[in-house]
Parts: sequence; C-alpha cells; structure tokens
Amino acid sequence: AGSRDLAGTRVIITAGGTREPIDPVRFIGNRSSGKQGVALAEAARDRGADVVLIGANLEVAPPVGVDFVPVSTVAELRDGVVSRSPDADIVVMAAAVSDYRPVTVATTKMKKDAEGDSFSIELTANPDILAELGQRQHPRPVLVGFAAETEADAGELIARGAGKAERKNADLIAVNRVDEGRGFGAADNEVTIVDRYGEVHARAAGSKREVADAILAAARGVRA
Ligand code: C5P
Repeated sequence: AGSRDLAGTRVIITAGGTREPIDPVRFIGNRSSGKQGVALAEAARDRGADVVLIGANLEVAPPVGVDFVPVSTVAELRDGVVSRSPDADIVVMAAAVSDYRPVTVATTKMKKDAEGDSFSIELTANPDILAELGQRQHPRPVLVGFAAETEADAGELIARGAGKAERKNADLIAVNRVDEGRGFGAADNEVTIVDRYGEVHARAAGSKREVADAILAAARGVRA
C-alpha cells in the first residue's frame, strides 16, 4: 500500500456482467456483481493510474476519481473498450461477458399465450473482446483476462489459464475459482495469475482489493 507505481499509466478496467435483451423486460445475464472490477479500479487509482472503468450493470457503486462509463450489452462494452484501448497501457477484462446473444430481440413483451408451453430462443455468438484486443498490432496494451472455473485442481487451473492466454493472445490470465464464498458476488476471491507458458506470476487469496493489487503488480511487471 502507498505505492504510486502506476503514476502516469492509463488503465482500462471492465467490470460487472453484461445483459443481452430478449424482449423489453427480459435479458440473458450472469451472476457477476462487479466487485472485483471495482476493486481493480480503486486499486489502480490509488497506485496513481488514470483509470477508465467500463461497468456493466454494477451492483456496487463506481469509485470516485475514475472515469466511469456505464454499459449493459456486449456491443456497448466492446465499443467502450475498443474505442479507448489505443490510448491504454493496461487493459484488465474483469467483466463477465455473455458469449451469446439472442438473434432477434422482441420489440414487445413476450406473452405466455402467444408462446405456448415451450419455445426456443436462438442465440448467436458475441465477439470475443479480449481476443480482438489481442489481435491488434503492436504496441498494444498489456492485456489481462479472467477465467472463472468452477472445478479442477490447481494444476488443471493453471493449464486452463495458460490455454486461454494463448488462444486470446493475452499477457496474463487471472484464473479464479468460483464456488461458495469465492468469486461471483462474494467479498473474497482467490486467483492464480498465469501467462501462456503456464508460468505463475502471482497467487492471491483474500479480499477483492488484495487480489486487485496482486493483478496490477503482475500487469506492471509484464513490461517493466
Ligand atoms: O473465454 P472466457 O469467457 O472464459 O474468457 C474470459 C475472459 O475473456 C474474461 O477476461 C472476459 O472479460 C473476456 N471475454 C471477452 N469477450 C467475450 C467473452 C469473454 O472479452 N465475448
């Protein structure tokens, strides 16, 4: 604490969980609260960075002293990140991004009498924002993604994180175990920060703020 090691650094954090509309009142969403991303934004601010927080449906208030961009859908999140990333030194994709969205969005509320006892919603793949950022020409920002895993032992978690870093051309992946008391919605988190070679840059277990500081220190280390 107290270190201003990110002074003069421009950091973009995505946080929260996207919502893809089905009709005017319904959506496909996820259990991300935004707490880890908000903790990252606070930690980056306190380390002296200029912070843009792109927040999707946050359950917690955005911190003061950061540039807050509220979004809801993947398309909005993508626009927010891609338009700003050329100016960024570090991008941390903490948001839980929906992999799919409905092909069509009903313009009026869907009704049970019209749909009957069962019906299907056709989904189409969303763009992978982290992978898209990873494809950009150099110089590009240090890219940090997350991988939420519900099972697997420690070695398997590292392998999955390394595979994700390789596929998306990310510098670091913070693999976090999401189960009772950790991960989505919880106060605490546990992450292993790995690169594409499976090298472990840091491990952190504790408050989301402690985890945030470990992630930022690792990101800074990538091009230090
Ligand atoms: O592939 P998976 O969804 O597990 O990857 C998670 C990481 O990729 C997170 O950092 C998330 O923000 C990012 N992501 C993304 N665009 C998507 C899906 C995930 O940027 N469409």
